Amino acid sequence: MSPKSVYITRLIPESGVALLTGAGFAVKMNPLARPMRRAEFLEEAGRHAAMICQVSDTIDRDLLQAAAPNCKIVALCAVGFDNVDLAAARELGVVVTNTPDVLTEATADLTWALLLATARRLGEAERCVRAGAWRGWGMLDFLGADVHGRTLGIVGAGRIGTAVARRARGFDMSVLYCARDAKGPIEALGATKAPLGELLRKSDFISLHVPLTPHTHHLIDERALGEMKSTAILINTSRGAVVDQVALIDSLRRGRIAGAGLDVYDKEPVIPQALLDMENVVLLPHIGSATSATRAKMAEIAAANAIAVLHGQQPLNPVQP
Ligand code: DGY
Repeated sequence: MSPKSVYITRLIPESGVALLTGAGFAVKMNPLARPMRRAEFLEEAGRHAAMICQVSDTIDRDLLQAAAPNCKIVALCAVGFDNVDLAAARELGVVVTNTPDVLTEATADLTWALLLATARRLGEAERCVRAGAWRGWGMLDFLGADVHGRTLGIVGAGRIGTAVARRARGFDMSVLYCARDAKGPIEALGATKAPLGELLRKSDFISLHVPLTPHTHHLIDERALGEMKSTAILINTSRGAVVDQVALIDSLRRGRIAGAGLDVYDKEPVIPQALLDMENVVLLPHIGSATSATRAKMAEIAAANAIAVLHGQQPLNPVQP
C-alpha cells in the first residue's frame, strides 16, 4: 500500500477526484456502474490510506479490520452513516466523515417532487401517456389529492425536515413535526410540535426525515400505519428500514393508507414486486441528493476530509458513534 493511495468505491464527480490528485494522491476508482462486490471491497480495503465510500457500501467490522491499520479514513459521500460500524471504526482507529448541509436543499426538493407526484398520480398518468393509452381529457381521470391547505407531518426536524417544512409554506399547509426536543428553526416556520401518534392521526402527508438508528428502525410499523388516516400519503426519503416495508405493503393493499412515495428501501436495490405492481406508489431509485451541483459538492467534501486526515489534520466532518 502506498501512504498516498486513495480508493473510491464508486464513480464520483470529477471535481472530487481532481482535489485528491491535485493534493498528490494516487487515486484508484471502481470503474463499474455498480456497487463493489463484497470480495472486491475486502480485497481493496487494506491497500489504501483512505477510502471514499457511498451509502451502498457496507462498512462493517470485518471490512474495517481488513482496512486498518493502513486505512486512516473512510470518507462517506453521504450525510447518513448507518452503513458504517462506528464503534469498530473508533476501536480500529479509522476516522469516519460525512457530508452534512450540502445536500439538504436538494433532498428537500426531491421530497416535494415525490409528495406532489404521489398526491397527483404523476407516475400512473405518465405511464398511461407513454403506453399510448390516453384517450383525451376526462373529467374523472387521474383524480388525485389536494396538497395546498392540507396538513403535513414531518417526522424528524433536522436540517432536511426543516427545509421540507419551509417549502410547505408555499402550499399554505399546516405543519406538525415530531422530534425528541422542541426545534426552534422549524417552529420559526410556523410548525407545531406533536407526539408521533397525534402527528400520524392528523396529517394528510407524512414525510420521514430521521436517521436510521436502532431507535428509528421500523418506526413506521403496522401500528403506526394503523394510526394514519385512510387518505394519508407516506413519503420516505430517509432510509428504507425506518419503515416496516412488509407492513407498508399490507396497509397499501388493504387501503388503510392511500399511497406512498418512496426513494429508499429496506434492501436496496431490491424492491418487492408487490410495490412495483401498485399504481398508488411512486418509486424512485434513492436520488434525494442527485443534482449535479450537490453531488459535486459531496464528492469535494469527502475528498477534502480524506486530504485533511492524510495530512495529519483534523477531519472537517467527523461522525461520532
Ligand atoms: C445520504 O446522503 O445519506 C443520501 O442517502 C445519499 O445521497
